[in-house]
Amino acid sequence: MSREVPLIDLSRMEPIVAKTVAAAIERVRHSGRYLLGSELATFEAAFAAWCGTDHCVGVANGTDALELALRALDCGSGDVVATVANAGIYATVAILAVGATPLYVDIDADCMTMSAAALEAAMSPAVKVVIATHLYGRLADLDALAAAAPGVALIEDCAQAHGAMRDHVRAGAFGAIGCFSFYPTKNLGAMGDAGALTTDDPDLAATLRALRSYGWSKRFVATRSGGRNSRLDEMQAAVLSAKLPYVEGWNARRREIAAIYEQTLSGLNLQLPNTGTVSHVVHLYVVRAGNRDDLAARLRAAGIGCEVHYPVPDYRQPAVVAALGALAPLAETERAVAEVLTLPCHPWMSDDEVTQVATAVRASLNANEG
Ligand SMILES: Cc1ncc(COP(=O)(O)O)c(C=O)c1O
Repeated sequence: MSREVPLIDLSRMEPIVAKTVAAAIERVRHSGRYLLGSELATFEAAFAAWCGTDHCVGVANGTDALELALRALDCGSGDVVATVANAGIYATVAILAVGATPLYVDIDADCMTMSAAALEAAMSPAVKVVIATHLYGRLADLDALAAAAPGVALIEDCAQAHGAMRDHVRAGAFGAIGCFSFYPTKNLGAMGDAGALTTDDPDLAATLRALRSYGWSKRFVATRSGGRNSRLDEMQAAVLSAKLPYVEGWNARRREIAAIYEQTLSGLNLQLPNTGTVSHVVHLYVVRAGNRDDLAARLRAAGIGCEVHYPVPDYRQPAVVAALGALAPLAETERAVAEVLTLPCHPWMSDDEVTQVATAVRASLNANEG
């Protein structure tokens, strides 16, 4: 009887990082400094260098990063922010938090990131910012999006794309601001909540530093409105510094697993993601199946972890309908939401487990068609 294959198992990372993470935690324990200290400064410098940006500003989580990015760009009431509706509700939560209005733009059928043609068609002078999500680990086509929305500030949501690269430029270094989550399951994950922003603009960086600490320009002096308490603490910063050197290798292993899936799942009635280049860091390995719910049920019955990322488009979320009223559905978004299914793909999976997943997928599809 084969063993269950979980969607992800973070406990397998533990022995790999045990020594450096333990040392990091000990450093913080003995430092007597738990917020805005040297661990944060060290991680911010290392992560900025890794992303290829001049600045990194650590914050409490990825959703705060999106919200503070919008605030730093003076985006608020009366402004419109273009974004997608198939990427979890994170961008929408941030947009609504600053009092702006989301404009949902449809996705490309192939890559499931924002369609530049749809953005161009939806553009109006009210659009102040575009939030482009690098979904599942794949870089959105930022050049095409920038061309479709000339002069509009571009925020990259890099929460699923740490290290994704095109022409030697990494996620977080394309737009005005990059927003990262270090939620534990991310390609670089903390031991709790954490996030960061990247930018080359020193003024934006200074604004973001003020916004994450009550709007203070210096202690007890709030010069910037819209300030929050959203800090990346010393413990999480130290843990992230300890894990950062592993991410490149982990991303390579994710791509290796994707390549095995590519070989073993081709020829089935299944749309596979194109993960062949470094512009995809395979945060999630997402296939599309017309009979998705049947496939998911059969896989779960066979002990294979799988999940739908994400089952409801933002514009159909009850909280969004309550805020904005009913919005028109987007054709490609609806199709993707009905078909996507995430299969196990994390750096600590064995080849045997990958084969076990592929065998179960094949058997499930054959059973479904038989
Ligand atoms: C695409 C995307 N954006 C934003 C977030 C929000 O990050 P957090 O959970 O750290 O707030 C997440 C993940 O959780 C995400 O996957």
